[in-house]
Amino acid sequence: MTTRAVVRGIGHYLPERIVPNVEFEKIVETTDEWIRSRSGIERRHFAAEDETTSQMAANAARAALADAGLEAGDIDALIVATSTADLTFPSAATMVQAELGMETGYAFDVQAVCAGFVFALSNANALIISGQANRVMVIGAETFSRIMDWTDRGTCVLFGDGAGALILETGTGDGTTADRGILSVDLNSDGRHRDILYVDGGVSTQSTGHLRMEGKEVFRHAVEKLAQTAHTALEKVGLSGDDVDWIVPHQANLRIIKSTAQRMNVPMERVVVTVQDHGNTSAASIPLALSVGVERGQIKTGDLIVTEAIGGGLAWGAVVLRW
Ligand code: UT7
Repeated sequence: MTTRAVVRGIGHYLPERIVPNVEFEKIVETTDEWIRSRSGIERRHFAAEDETTSQMAANAARAALADAGLEAGDIDALIVATSTADLTFPSAATMVQAELGMETGYAFDVQAVCAGFVFALSNANALIISGQANRVMVIGAETFSRIMDWTDRGTCVLFGDGAGALILETGTGDGTTADRGILSVDLNSDGRHRDILYVDGGVSTQSTGHLRMEGKEVFRHAVEKLAQTAHTALEKVGLSGDDVDWIVPHQANLRIIKSTAQRMNVPMERVVVTVQDHGNTSAASIPLALSVGVERGQIKTGDLIVTEAIGGGLAWGAVVLRW
């Protein structure tokens, strides 16, 4: 008998304000056509002025609890993947814990930028299979609108805000890839590339800073590394692209998503795409896409899913799971 971290519930939250591409034509030299054709993005949601990452995360968490038929007290561990926590400390996760009325268990943040959700999933899996938690809530939540340089057309048109939450619980299987739950993980980082995607501020440099990106360079790494990490995660359990029902990729750029699918030999009909509606929501993009994929009736119990993401660090990775 093999212990598995099995999906129990999913939910998401998107802030009310939807900003179409044309809005950016008023603030920087850009066009709706450029944004669509280069990134696939058509619109994104931005948090209200007084809306925080932890509030959005708590809203997604409530939706996931409702989907799972659970109460906050049923969760042992709560992990928030974010680079845009409300405060320097405490963690966004403890704020969500308080907001949900979860008085037991433990909560912490994981920071791996756009790959944050994949890293957090891996942590949740490890907690479950080592017996340190029975139920783990994994949330990706971001307010990237707070770290945009609104004069930089190369970045400000790309990002959005939102949150998604997934509940995993202890299950058992027979140790084969027919088991439900997380089947394999592949994580990577390489700090030599830290200056192609970063925020030029932080606590020890005494500022908040803005997101800076060498888009072309990040693009180049993304198309190479995403297919590679997805292949590695699949190979670890003797699977290939042919076995995959759904790729649920980090939603940064439709061209990257298409190129990764092609390299994995998976047709676009088996890829969940939300980038047109959400933009790049960093650590929130995968749980948002999973939740929307379920809502649309694309993802069903028993489907084999590969998630993959890359972001600042660089940090990148993939998770293979059977829904
Ligand atoms: O989530 C973390 C991971 N992030 C990513 O995966 C993002 C990776 N990068 C990308 O998605 C793409 O590189 C971008 C969408 C950011 C840019 O697309 P690109 O095809 O690589 O364009 P580029 O950066 O090579 O820029 C081409 C041209 C430049 O003009 P020149 O130098 O050729 O005259 C840019 O200045 O497009 C210009 N440009 C714009 N034009 C209109 C850059 N941003 C804009 C804009 N509107 N918003």
